[in-house]
Order: sequence, then structure tokens, then C-alpha cells
Amino acid sequence: MNDLLPDQSPVWQFLETKVKTVLQRYGYAEVRTPIVEQTELFKRSIGEVTDIVEKEMYTFEDRNGDSLTLRPEGTASCVRAAEQHGLLYNQVQRLWYTGPMFRHERPQKGRYRQFHQIGAEAFGMLGPDIDAEVILMTARLWRELGIESAVELQLNTLASSEARAAFKAELVSYLESRKDQLDADSLRRLETNPLRILDSKDAGTQALLDGAPSFNDFIDEESRLHFEQLCQLLDAAGVKYQINPRLVRGLDYYGKTVFEWVTTALGAQGTVCAGGRYDGLVEQLGGRHTPAVGFAMGVERLVLLLEELNAVPDAARQLVDVYLIGIGDDNLVPSMALAESLRTEAGMNVQLHCGGGSFKSQMKKADRSGARLALFIGSEEREAGEVSVKYLRSGAEQERLPLTNISMALSERLNKGLGE
Ligand code: HAM
Repeated sequence: MNDLLPDQSPVWQFLETKVKTVLQRYGYAEVRTPIVEQTELFKRSIGEVTDIVEKEMYTFEDRNGDSLTLRPEGTASCVRAAEQHGLLYNQVQRLWYTGPMFRHERPQKGRYRQFHQIGAEAFGMLGPDIDAEVILMTARLWRELGIESAVELQLNTLASSEARAAFKAELVSYLESRKDQLDADSLRRLETNPLRILDSKDAGTQALLDGAPSFNDFIDEESRLHFEQLCQLLDAAGVKYQINPRLVRGLDYYGKTVFEWVTTALGAQGTVCAGGRYDGLVEQLGGRHTPAVGFAMGVERLVLLLEELNAVPDAARQLVDVYLIGIGDDNLVPSMALAESLRTEAGMNVQLHCGGGSFKSQMKKADRSGARLALFIGSEEREAGEVSVKYLRSGAEQERLPLTNISMALSERLNKGLGE
């Protein structure tokens, strides 16, 4: 679990602002749900025999003896909230959320025990059009962030639950007779969650799977059509994808479409965004049958990727426009007044020097603040009704400007690039 410090927070804010804007472009409304839920909610939605529920949840008893869990993901909570407040009754919903999630995994680069997701869920729409729109939305986001060349879309269909059950039976019988060739994890999954074996990173297991029954032969007609139409819609919109028949996902609620956006730039934890369709979940949690599709992106991984690709514009890290110094106690009042009026009239980010010190040390702080301009008012300036302007990031000559109309004069100079 990590702290987020000032050198990092501008990158997070850059990302969060872009994502929010794109979500709003597609008509998504924000929901905020509690960080803890009844443990049952996650068991019933994510699945009893998934890694998340079996090994990774932070579960505790509260003072009433209720079993609560720090949310390991956002979909279950979003469904619970939407259902509880009647949002799914005879209407479609496009919802998004963001916040910390908790999984007790082995930490490594891109994998943490507290991590952050931004997720979106669309309820009440049955066809492949909404699947396509959800994917288009993520593709737009990568373009807006300038990382589109570093991510690739993997796509699969998990078909109907009947198709999965029939395939599971065949797969298990194929693997049962070859148990000795399976890696330890897959051996365990053979009993609990055999489809996850398709996802195994073990080379021996992957080779064994080459001869296994193919899921493709089990896909039902409706799911096949849904998938074909989705592919056509993506083709028409110019979104490239790779069909990966071994993409199965680690949560049990999916059927039909599943997808992941992956990058090779981050090492082992390369999935930056993942999701799919989960038409059965609302009903499973006690609501009426409601088709649904959504995804969640890992904020830490996207931040790492933005940094890896140098995709964060300098302006996003520029927190201070002006560093303002009143030299000596006599000049505190006019400098504080000037700082206030620059904030009000020019909307500038002004850091006022507080705490005294020598002029030299104040100028050092001005430089370290990242500001483009240092302004100072000494006795001479005060008596003349002026302010001195030093350009910290360019060779432009220091100058003195009258205090009247100072906001406009400074804005003009910054717009002309004098501060660069
Ligand atoms: P998920 O694949 O478990 O899906 O997580 C989504 C994303 O969260 C991952 O692709 C990854 O970027 C990030 N993530 C997951 N675990 C960690 C971790 N330990 N550290 C850092 N990042 C992590 C879900 O959670 C589904 N609820 C997605 C969804 C929404 N499906 C439909 N709607």
C-alpha cells in the first residue's frame, strides 16, 4: 500500500481529468460506494473458488460480528448500489466509479495490495453495440493520453454458461488423464476453476493445452453472432484487436464478451484495463435479469505507462505560475494583496513567500517552486506603485511593471511565451 507524494500526484490528476472527460463524453454518471461491503457480496459475485475470494480478500468481523471485506473490485459494489436504489428498474444506466481496491497479492511492479481503479458499467443493454461503444471509449482514452501505440486489445467470447459447462467437462477429462504434465497451480485449478488453466503462464501447461479440446467448438449460436457483430462494429470503427481464445479472466461473472488492453512496456503486469459482459450478475445478486457490460482500468499501471512513455505534458506538472516575494515586513501587506488579486483576476496559481529569510534564499525557493515568474515588491517598488518581474525559465530581461492592470499585463506576457 503506497503513499502518493507531490511529485507523482500531478500525473494522477492528469490521468483522472482525461478519463473523467472521456466518460462524460459518453454519458456516464459517477457513483461513489463504500470501501467495505458485506463479504457475501464478493463471494456471490466474483466466485467462491477464484483467487481473489480464496486468497486475496481483506476480510474482518466488525463489532456486531458481521463479516465485512475491503472491496477487491468495483463491479459488485456498483451492481449492489444500482439495485438497492432502484437505478436498474426499467431503465438503462451508464455508471462510472473510481477509488482504492484491496487485494492481498504478492506485491511487485504494477501489482499492489491497495491499488486504484477507474471503472465503468453499462446496464440494461443486450446487444453488441454497447460492447463496441465501451471498447471505443477506452480506445479514445488511450489516444487522448497519447499511449495508443503502446497498448493492444485482446478479445474473446466466453459464450453462454451452458457452453462453458460443456467445454469445462471436456477440458477436465482431457487434463485429468495428463495430470502429471500440469504445473502445481493448474493442478489445483483442475478441481476448482479449470477454465483458469487456459490462462496459465507455465510453458509446459500451455503446450499441453495445444492438444486440448477447443472452446471454439462449444460456442453457442447466439454468442457466436454477438461476437461476430462486435468484431464487425470494431472493424468499422477502425479499432484493431487480437482474438485470444485463451483469455478467460479471473472473476466468475463473465459471459460472452471479455477483453483486456495489454502493454509490453511494463513487464509482467501488463494489463492496464480489463472487462467484459456479465448478463447474469444482477439476477444472481437478487435483482431482475439485467444485461451488463463494463471494465476497470488500473490507475497505477497507467501512471507507470504514462511515465515510461514520457506522455505527461510539462504543463500538467506546472503547479505554480507565479512566486511572489514581499521584501521585508513593510511589504507584506501589498504583496499579499497582489497575490490575492492575481488569483481573483487572472486565475493564476500564486505561491506567496511566507516565513521570511534572505532575498537570496527566497529567490532559490522561487526557482525550486517551478514557477515561471518571480514577482517581488521592495520599498522602491512599493513607493513607485510597481512590481519587479523576473522570468525564471527564459532569458527575458527583468522588468518593472505598474500595479494597475498588472493581472492583464502578466497574462499577456505569459501568453506570448515570455515565461517559457
Ligand atoms: P480485474 O481484471 O480484476 O477486473 O482488474 C481490472 C484492472 O485493475 C486490471 O487490469 C489491472 O490494471 C488493475 N489491477 C488489478 N489488480 C491489481 C493490483 N493488485 N495492483 C494494481 N493494479 C491491479 C475487475 O476488477 C473487474 N471488476 C473489471 C470489470 C468491470 N469487469 C466488468 N466491469
